[in-house]
Amino acid sequence: MKILVTGGAGYIGSHTVVLLIEAGYEVIVFDNFCNSSRESINRVEKIVGQKITVFEGDIRSRDDLGKVFSSNKIDAVIHFAGLKAVGESVEQPLRYYDNNVNGTVILCEVMEKYNCKSIIFSSSATVYGDPHTTPILESFPTSATNPYGRSKLFIEEILRDLYVSDNDWKVILLRYFNPVGAHNSGTIGEDPNGIPNNLMPFIAQTAVGKREYLSVFGDDYDTPDGTGVRDYIHVVDLAQGHVNALDRLDDFSEVMTINLGTGKGYSVLEMVKAFEKASGKKVPYKIAPRRAGDIATCFADPSYAKEVLDWEAKRGIEEMCEDGWLWQSQNPDGYLTKS
Ligand code: NAD
Ligand code: UD1
Repeated sequence: MKILVTGGAGYIGSHTVVLLIEAGYEVIVFDNFCNSSRESINRVEKIVGQKITVFEGDIRSRDDLGKVFSSNKIDAVIHFAGLKAVGESVEQPLRYYDNNVNGTVILCEVMEKYNCKSIIFSSSATVYGDPHTTPILESFPTSATNPYGRSKLFIEEILRDLYVSDNDWKVILLRYFNPVGAHNSGTIGEDPNGIPNNLMPFIAQTAVGKREYLSVFGDDYDTPDGTGVRDYIHVVDLAQGHVNALDRLDDFSEVMTINLGTGKGYSVLEMVKAFEKASGKKVPYKIAPRRAGDIATCFADPSYAKEVLDWEAKRGIEEMCEDGWLWQSQNPDGYLTKS
């Protein structure tokens, strides 16, 4: 089976490409490299021991997509391509809606034209807004507080509408919790531009000495130690969720909406401790004010993924931190690090 992976050079995409190839799928990567580098693909090629077909293009370009679909019989698309920085989305909403929502509409149009009607989409736990209770089930109400989150909600609805219009479509919406860690080779990982927004890359860069200290955003939440609690999931477990979803795509006769999380929540301070243990480095931190838009606690009920995808996260917090540290310490400047 030939799978098109949009955003396949990015953090989650590159890990998923590795697992897809190891599972025997043929993979084509489609990326405009607006938030990634070709070096990630070079590294993936080394891990899997084969060349990867890459199309450089934008999902908003029918021409770019047409080049891939006219020269390949694509069986399914795993759609990672998108912009993902929450703060930036508040400042540049039109850019986010154009890239994420419009880009997905154009991708689906081109897929339809070439009779490829199977898509697995990267949604996010952010669609649960501030949940009234945890663990979070797929049936919980959805909401969004920023354009990034709203783009995910809109795309979910667009894909559901598409299925209603034509039941030949196969649609799986995967709602990720907080992906962290890296491939255990230490050669691919998360490589954020500039100052990281997310906790784990910030901790890793502090441990390696690139940042002086971590700001802990709030210690007065209603959580055991007062700091925010999240469901961190190893990126390789997350990638495996996509392989399981692809394996079962034909079994489903409705749009599937599935949480990919571990079901366990860890606080910011627990993550700091775990990372210090895994790295043997100190992670200095200071308590800072709460970050606007943050919630106290967010973790998944992952039982539906177990039931319908036969998938569950296998890697614990130690492995997440060890693999994250291996990547960070071997690549202090991400993909720009000379090997
Ligand atoms: P990433 O930025 O590392 O990867 C996204 C990739 O898409 C990049 O390689 C980028 O160059 C590419 N891209 C963006 N716009 C494009 C366009 N118009 N045309 C072609 N390529 C384009 O991000 P990631 O962390 O790997 O996330 C992948 C997906 O998962 C995103 O849709 C993101 O919103 C979603 N998601 C991520 C997280 C997370 O914490 N990382 C959580 C929930 C959901
Ligand atoms: C954030 C986004 C979410 C997105 C997800 C994955 C916000 C409000 N939410 O989720 O929409 O889907 O990333 O990209 O941006 N923290 C610190 N110091 C830091 C960074 C984070 O204390 O420097 C804390 C946060 O307050 C939070 C936890 O660490 O309690 C995790 O933060 P982060 O990694 O940014 O993820 P989310 O906020 O869960």
